[in-house]
Amino acid sequence: MNENEKCKKIYITTPIYYVNDVPHIGHAYTTIIADSLARYSRLAGMEVFFLTGTDEHGQKIEQAAKARGKSPQEYATEISNRFKQLWDDFEISYDKFIRTTDPDHIKGVQKAFEIMVEKGDIYKDVYRGHYCVSCETFFTDTQLIDEEFCPECGRSTTMVEEESYFFRLSKYQDKLLEWYESRPDCILPKAKRNEVINFVKSGLNDLSITRTSFDWGIKLPESMHDPKHVIYVWLDALMNYITALGYGTDEKLMDYWPAKVHLIGKDILRFHAIYWPAFLMSLDLELPHHVAAHGWWTRNGEKMSKSKGNVVDPKEIADAYGLENFRYFMLREVPFGQDGDFSQRALIDRINSDLGNDLGNLLNRIIGMSGKYFDFHIESDDVAKYHEEELLEVKAILSNVEPFLYEIQTNRYLEELWKTLRIANKAIDKAMPWVKMKEGKEDEAMATIALVANILAKVSVLLHPVMPKTTQTIASALGFEVNNDSYYRLIKEEELLGKFTIEKVPPLFPRIEEPLVETPGQKAEAKSKSELKAKEEKNSASREKSDKTAENGDNLITIDRFFEVKLKVGSVMEAQEVPKSKKLLKLQVDLGEEKPRQIVAGIKEWYAPEDLIGTQVCVVANLKPAKLMGMLSEGMLLAAKDDEGLCLIRPEKPKKPGTPIG
Ligand code: MSP
Repeated sequence: MNENEKCKKIYITTPIYYVNDVPHIGHAYTTIIADSLARYSRLAGMEVFFLTGTDEHGQKIEQAAKARGKSPQEYATEISNRFKQLWDDFEISYDKFIRTTDPDHIKGVQKAFEIMVEKGDIYKDVYRGHYCVSCETFFTDTQLIDEEFCPECGRSTTMVEEESYFFRLSKYQDKLLEWYESRPDCILPKAKRNEVINFVKSGLNDLSITRTSFDWGIKLPESMHDPKHVIYVWLDALMNYITALGYGTDEKLMDYWPAKVHLIGKDILRFHAIYWPAFLMSLDLELPHHVAAHGWWTRNGEKMSKSKGNVVDPKEIADAYGLENFRYFMLREVPFGQDGDFSQRALIDRINSDLGNDLGNLLNRIIGMSGKYFDFHIESDDVAKYHEEELLEVKAILSNVEPFLYEIQTNRYLEELWKTLRIANKAIDKAMPWVKMKEGKEDEAMATIALVANILAKVSVLLHPVMPKTTQTIASALGFEVNNDSYYRLIKEEELLGKFTIEKVPPLFPRIEEPLVETPGQKAEAKSKSELKAKEEKNSASREKSDKTAENGDNLITIDRFFEVKLKVGSVMEAQEVPKSKKLLKLQVDLGEEKPRQIVAGIKEWYAPEDLIGTQVCVVANLKPAKLMGMLSEGMLLAAKDDEGLCLIRPEKPKKPGTPIG
């Protein structure tokens, strides 16, 4: 055991999750990465403190609770428990689950506020600007889209004018730039650092850090004598990283500070890479080693959201495919920092190919050969003699693999491990132990099996943080256990094991042919199909009697149903691009009504705004209004689309706006 390694303390955090929504695959992703890192560090003998939890204050939560007729506290507890339950089901090895409603957290935040005041970093003024409740973020006029909508999520913002305390963020601009400069890996992936630097260089405004227009938050410390203010939810939330260690109350865990890494999603990088280090500077605390921001998990290229019905439930997927297979997939599939599209097909391919073919088969091969030729006892001192080249290659790979994990390049880390599995598989193909046996070269055959067993042993140690139980099974099939001792011997000391007592194990990765879970999209489709079918069945008797047109089959509708859709001719008065949208155009369409309708249409790829102005279109006029990127759309254009593209359906001759179609 390396004593230095053993004493090293390491602090790893996930974001604390908002309790306005139940956990989904994006939350699971951050937590699984953090868990793997924590497990690796423990295996390597470090003292780990791994923190996760829930973010429970703020206007968003207050509104979500109200919408369900619950008190914010009651609602927060309910959702917080669901997060905790999921992490327990996922065997997440957190050391503390913090809630921002915990009394110690509240005290710690108030203490931090007081210290910032003493430091002269907080002053009172009036805040005038726009607030997005969904992002819990303030925006200036120039940041908004179309003077109203949130640049982050597209939702409508609210104009706020209220007394507020401000944090002197501007004071820390230069110090922050010095930090980014002196610590090139403070923000991961490194490419993200430039984005942050440019943002800070463009000038930092002081930050409004209290609100008076609602209640659900931490009150100012009593010493401020200003009870109408609650602390801004992001100041409250970020402090969790130190209050969890006892900051401001019982500080006995503060020696874990600074954090090794705050794992977060890219949408909350600004809070962690700008506000948080500035708050820490104000508190005279050290800065974290890394803030690591991952990308988004999408479905068919779209962000997941409840309203789109495309949210993936991590529990459902893990239950169907195996928790550890799911963990492997999440860490292997997407380069850290990039967005990744979730599909069951991709998951199945990873299970069948990487896990089944590369890892599972390799284990089966040595179990089979060691049983057949050596009664499951492998003992060889000749590995280096017959397989020097392979040993050198494996050594070169494995001695350089750890940094990939601490730089959160989890896909690279796993790819490197898989390179060694390929070396092992190739070594068997090349050496052909079965031929060697026939030739009476038992030593050589034994050496090849021992080489492969050694590679598998090392891989099972290094893969253990990602797949804890599976690797323990592999290790026991090879006659050892994954623990700090085997980590130290096999990885740090690069020891080769000379002896193995092999045991048979049931197949670890049975092949999967078809998706095992009905995806939310399919479910919604199936639901609407079955609803439709039930409706159709209910109506069919009377329809058969009264409506000749319906006799030919389910797809025919009556003329009455057709006329339920109100189609009208419209004239396009205005058309413009929607900033930041690749697909949408925003049109003002005259339907002969008092004022033109706003219609947001996904036709930008095929039409330039100037080509549409003054032309006529056919509009579904009685469609329920919907919001697209925060903009109201009050109708739909008729269009035909095939492989060659999309074209709008138009009247053959000009017609008065509002003329009915049908
Ligand atoms: N409460 C704040 C964090 C405060 S940390 C001091 C918050 N909570 S959140 O629940 O909205 O999001 C938590 C994390 O989940 C964020 O890191 C976010 O990036 C991540 N994800 C939410 N949806 C996601 C995907 N679809 N894909 C990947 N991660 C995403 O923000």
